[in-house]
Amino acid sequence: TVDIDASALRADINEFARIAQADNGTRAHGTAGYQASLDYLKQRLDVAGYTTRVQQFTHAGKTGHNLIADLPGRGDPNRVVMLGAHLDSVTQGAGVNDNASGSAGILEVALAYAASGADGDKGIRFGWWGAEEAGLVGSKAYVSSLNTTERAKITGYLNFDMIGSPNPGYFVYGDDTRGTAIAAALKAGFTAAGITSLSTDIKGRSDHASFKAAGIPTGGTATLSLAAAMSQAEADLWDGEAGKPYDPCYHSSCDGAGNIDFDALDAHTDVAAYAAWTLTGVKAPAES
Ligand code: PHE
Ligand code: CA
Ligand code: ZN
Ligand code: ZN
Ligand code: ZN
Repeated sequence: TVDIDASALRADINEFARIAQADNGTRAHGTAGYQASLDYLKQRLDVAGYTTRVQQFTHAGKTGHNLIADLPGRGDPNRVVMLGAHLDSVTQGAGVNDNASGSAGILEVALAYAASGADGDKGIRFGWWGAEEAGLVGSKAYVSSLNTTERAKITGYLNFDMIGSPNPGYFVYGDDTRGTAIAAALKAGFTAAGITSLSTDIKGRSDHASFKAAGIPTGGTATLSLAAAMSQAEADLWDGEAGKPYDPCYHSSCDGAGNIDFDALDAHTDVAAYAAWTLTGVKAPAES
């Protein structure tokens, strides 16, 4: 497993914020800011050796796009672990914590996985979803597009939505008994980083729900729970601010470049990498 570089995450976040600024402050479904966000990811992934595919769908009279990336020649292509994040923002803002954070996090996991030469028993796939904010539209379109055989190849789906909140929590969800191995890997990742995580249930509030509905095991991490504010117990555990929201700029115009705790984003991304390496069955290199 690897330690993702926090400065790489900072550069990606700055790029998504710049893209939004160049397009009326948003990266919402159907906007130029969404398209530029997708173009940025696709270019980085293509250079790193991924096979990328843009899937189109239509919502509210506008074309939406998902980006799917496979890494050829690593593990069994018939048994893949998939990591995903929604790439769209709401129209009210740039969507930097929600969800440039998860988009940048899984991009850096993808780049690190390719660069490391990691070769596990299972294959790895990444997805960036359009129109999550309109009701998980992109991820539903992706899952619907898969036939029974293709669905069965996805052994698990890990979701990352809002992993850089300014008053951050360290939550794991895996709201399905079949997803236990995923939640366990994510918790073990936090433990390895010396962080106490808490389990939470975010219900159907992000793209994992589209996969869960198709019977695919799911899990993920987030810096927030569905509670309106951080509890005293959580604040004691994580040195946070009790009684304050995890993200006071949620779905608002202040969700910009300044709305990220980079230590939290780095920690959640390191955990995503830990789970990616563990669940694909990459063997630890021999001690030298
Ligand atoms: N998915 C929700 C959104 O994009 C927010 C959310 C993220 C809720 C993570 C719970 C956990 O608005
Ligand atoms: Ca790191
Ligand atoms: Zn588009
Ligand atoms: Zn949102
Ligand atoms: Zn979100």
